[in-house]
Parts: sequence; C-alpha cells; structure tokens
Amino acid sequence: MRKSNVSDLGFYTRFIANVAAIESLFKEIYGAHPACENSFTQLVEVITQAHLNRRPALRKLDEEKLDQDGWYLSNQITGMSLYVDRFAGNLQGVSERLDYLQDLGVNFLHLMPIFESPEGESDGGYAVSDFRKVDARFGRLEDLDNLKLEMEKRGMYLMLDIVLNHTSHHHAWAKQAKKGDPHYQQFYYLYPNREIPDQLDATMPEIFPESSPGNFTYLKETNQWVMTVFHQYQWDLNYTNPEVLIAMLDTLFFYANLGVDILRIDAPAFIWKQLGTTCQNLPQAHTLLQLFKQCLQVAAPGVALLGEAIVAPTEIMKYFGSGFYTGRECDFAYHATQMALQWDALATGDTRVMLAAQPLLLQKPVGASWITYTRCHDDIGLGYDDSMIASAGFQPYEHRKFLKEYYSGAREGSPATGALFSVNPKTQDARISGSLASLCGLEKALQNQSPEAIETATQKILLMQAMSFFIGGIPIIFYGDEQGYTNDYSYLSDSGKSYDNRWMHRPIIDWKKWEEEKDLSATSIFTATKRLITIRKKLPAIADHGNLTWLAPHNIHVAAFIRQTANQRVYCLFNFSSQNAYLTWYAFKEKGYPTQELYDYWTEKIFLVGLDHEYMVIPPYGFHILEVIQ
Ligand code: GLC
Repeated sequence: MRKSNVSDLGFYTRFIANVAAIESLFKEIYGAHPACENSFTQLVEVITQAHLNRRPALRKLDEEKLDQDGWYLSNQITGMSLYVDRFAGNLQGVSERLDYLQDLGVNFLHLMPIFESPEGESDGGYAVSDFRKVDARFGRLEDLDNLKLEMEKRGMYLMLDIVLNHTSHHHAWAKQAKKGDPHYQQFYYLYPNREIPDQLDATMPEIFPESSPGNFTYLKETNQWVMTVFHQYQWDLNYTNPEVLIAMLDTLFFYANLGVDILRIDAPAFIWKQLGTTCQNLPQAHTLLQLFKQCLQVAAPGVALLGEAIVAPTEIMKYFGSGFYTGRECDFAYHATQMALQWDALATGDTRVMLAAQPLLLQKPVGASWITYTRCHDDIGLGYDDSMIASAGFQPYEHRKFLKEYYSGAREGSPATGALFSVNPKTQDARISGSLASLCGLEKALQNQSPEAIETATQKILLMQAMSFFIGGIPIIFYGDEQGYTNDYSYLSDSGKSYDNRWMHRPIIDWKKWEEEKDLSATSIFTATKRLITIRKKLPAIADHGNLTWLAPHNIHVAAFIRQTANQRVYCLFNFSSQNAYLTWYAFKEKGYPTQELYDYWTEKIFLVGLDHEYMVIPPYGFHILEVIQ
C-alpha cells in the first residue's frame, strides 16, 4: 500500500465535487438497508484506497486525459478484440504480436476475459472463479503488467472486462454459499423452493434457451434454487446486498489500477432483478452504473466505461445516462443496433431499415461514444424495433425470418454460411453465429473456387468494415477478421464448447500460415483493412463529436452521411446492393454547401460534382470516403 500523496489536490477536488452525488445514488438503492451507513463508510474507504493504490504514472495519465476533453472520441484509436490463447497462445505471446497489431494500425486492445475461469464451464471466460487471478492458461498477473507496460510505451490502450452480473459457481463466494454459509448465501439469489423462481420465470426471457433453459438451477448441496440467467454454472450476484456492491466496486478499482483505459462492463442490463419484470434494463441497474461511474470519476478519472448492453435500441441509449446523469453513466455503448442493421442492409440490399433507426441513434449525448463493429465474439441479434422494419414497408416477422434463413445459409441461393444461435422453441426467436468472412460469403466462394464470388465476398467484408470505421466511435475489429478467417468447426469436438455455436466464429490464428501467405496478395483483406485504418487516422472529421448528418435517401441501396468539422467535410457513401448504384450529384448540394470537387481516399480518385440530373455511380458493394476539396 502506498502512502497518501497530500499534494494530490485533484483527488480531493473530485471527491468533494462528487461525494454528494455518490451518497445520493447509494442511498437511492440502499437507503432502507440496515447496513446502509456502515456500507457507505466502506464505499468511501474503497474509493480512497483505490486512489492511494494508483501508481503515479496512472495518476499523471488521468490528468492528461482529463485535459484532453474526451480522449476516447479521437479518430486515432482503432481497436481489436481478441482471445489471448486463440490469438497468441498466452499473454507473453500477445506482447510478441504487438508489432503485427501496430503494423495493421491497431492501438487499442480488448483482451477477452483473462481472469480465472474453470475450463469446460467458462463461457469464454465470462464465468469467473477468481476476479484477481489471471487464468494459468494465459500466464500470470506479471505477464499482464509486462504487456501493459509494453503497450504504454507504444501508446496503445487496453480494455478488460469486469463481469459484474455473475460469478462462476466455483468462485469462493459460491463455494461458501453451497456449504450453506448464510453470509455468502446472501451474495446470490437462492430460494428454498420453486415458488419465487416460477413467478420470476414467468416474466424473464431466456438467454440461452437451448443450452440453459429457464433462469434457475437446482442446487443439490443445499436443496435450493439459484438464479442462473446465463449458463447454469453462472450464478447471478445479488446487488440488493450492499456488500456485493462494495466487493465489485473494489474489483473495478483493482482493474482500473492495472492500467486499464476502458472497462467493459459485461451484461449491465441484468444486474437488478424485480418480480413481475423482465429483470433487464431496470432503473436500479442504471443507478448502480451511475454510482460506479461517479466513484471511478473520483479515483481513476482516466478510465472510461463501456456498458455492454445488447438490448432494444431505446434501452441501449439509456446506458449513456438520462436526466441529471445524461452523459454521466457509461462513456461507451456498443453500436449494436447499427451493427445489426448493416447485416440487415447487406442481406436485403436495402438501407431503409437502417435509416429508420437513425433519428433515435443520433440522440447519443455529446461526449459519449460508440464501440462500432461488424462482428464480435457473440452472436448477431436482430433486436431492432419492429417499427423500424415496418417503416421500410416490410413485415417484421417475415423480414427477420428472411434474415435468419439468409445468414444461416438455409435460404436457396444465399452466399452466407452461418448458423442460428439460441433458437427459442417457444417463440422461434434466434440470433446468428458466423464469422464476418463466412457471413459475407467467403467460405462458400472458397469452397466453390469462384474468383468472382471471392471478389464479391471481399468487397462485402470491406464495405461492412468501412461503415463501422467511419460512422463515429472506436471501431473494434474482431481478431481474425483482418485476415478473413472463415468459420472454424473444431469446437464441435470439444465438449466444453460444442453446446455453444458462437465458437464457430472464434478462430485460432495460424501464424505459420500467415507468414507463408501474407505477401501473396497486395489486395488482401489485411492490406485493405490497414488502408481503411490509415485513412481514418488522416481525417479529424471522423472523431466522434456528434458531427454526423445523414444524407436524404436518394437511392434505397445507398447509405450516406457527412462527417464534418469547421475545416473538413467528408462524405461517406456505401452501396449495399449487388448492382451499380446511381446517386444524384444533387445529394452533395442539398445540405446547402457548394461542393465542386471531392477526393476519394479509398479509390484515390478525384470526382467532379456534376449537374443535378447526372449521377455518381457506386460499384456493387462499393463505398467512397470523399473529402470536399473545393
Ligand atoms: C456477455 C458476453 C457473452 C456472455 C454473457 C454472459 O453478453 O459478451 O459472451 O456469454 O455476457 O457473461
């Protein structure tokens, strides 16, 4: 433990500025709890201790970040999300691949969960049995420190997960609870019979209906039922107990003090439960997140929060905070609606559903931002609103059915190879698994050895990535996608994974193959992805300062927006159809700016803006990143 640095006025100033809000948020949840006062004292101690434990270099970084006014909005940051073992064996292996990542242009890493998690019952690391011990498969805490220091030297940022909603049933708390220890029984939701579980189940949706139906698991050790919203081995933490909050706040600071730049809060929508509700997105969940944020703001203000809320569009928006806390809850949310709508447009060749969602998505508060992506380790959910689908003239049920058939490859003529994930037999709801490349048709194209189909699939991959790179926010590439990895079916022969087809899109990188093939093609997906990142870094207008205006829809196949600052105007155009798209030149004039000449960073060509009745022609699945030069 370090001694207090009395000269650190910053901490005291932030403490004084925020403590009233912290107390009021805390009491909103725990005001009636008998341990309220004691727990609040403990909370203040945790914040203070976190500050004392924060190494001077991190405190300095905090100050620098505070001065930058939204350091994370920058167009200079491009991320990658990766499994340490599947990408590079272990943490040391990741350190050895930093040159590769830097060559690509990636300067922000999301390491998928690295803390101890029992193999076979791990959910990809999201069932944590020890929040502070790096899983032996990946190395030791020391290896993480070394990686972090090496990343700091290279100016790279780090994101880790905090799995707040649940623990593994092998966590020390759960083990004690299994022994019947009344203290730890209160860390979870345990019931003596099915009465309350049945009532809750009546209104709670199922997350993994195929592999883990229902929301409760029978516990033979104590003859009880334990709440397990995700897998049966993931026990939901009971946040009505202030001790759980304090323990998890302390964990949050432990990660912050490892030097994390962004903390990904896993599954925040689920952290509060209430009878008669879906137990998702409840107001108390937001209060708890606001509380975490204000505490972090005091002791580790350089750490930004990402709320992993993959929920309905209007609900996602609420994770940026509302009312007095607008812009003071999560700094980031996943742009999950936009991501799914890009897949929608790619399948239909029609951008109208995507456009229908934008008035809502544009309401993101200034200063908050998106994590933009096309694929991640999870499935793709088609969770956008029926009204968005209907406003484009489609029937929502049939439309989703079409998309599911298209991407699972069940539909005649579909180029995609994916699979349905978590089909709910009761509702027929399903999500979609599959890698970026396979869903874009590369797997089939390679099987059929069709150069034309390979070309089209590659074009689709780049179109999808380009849109997520220029729409604003930090783009995160899912590892392997930069090399066009197709689905990997080896998970089927591993009993710890075969029940979960999300593993098909979580590749094991073959570096030997990479070394052999990397120079073969100058137009490879890797080279093109790298170019997209380079272009993004050249254009300050792409930084996410709420500076995006959608163009009026002149052609249903084209999605187009302007990103602009006082000195720069960039038109980004994306053709989601398999045909040439014709976009009237008038589109470049209607927002009232005289525009004559455009430079396309992608094709490296100059375009002269023609007469109103003439057209710009965008090739199939093509896109342009056009800066106004005159
Ligand atoms: C998040 C993760 C997902 C995991 C779930 C339960 O949604 O992204 O992979 O299964 O939380 O922890």
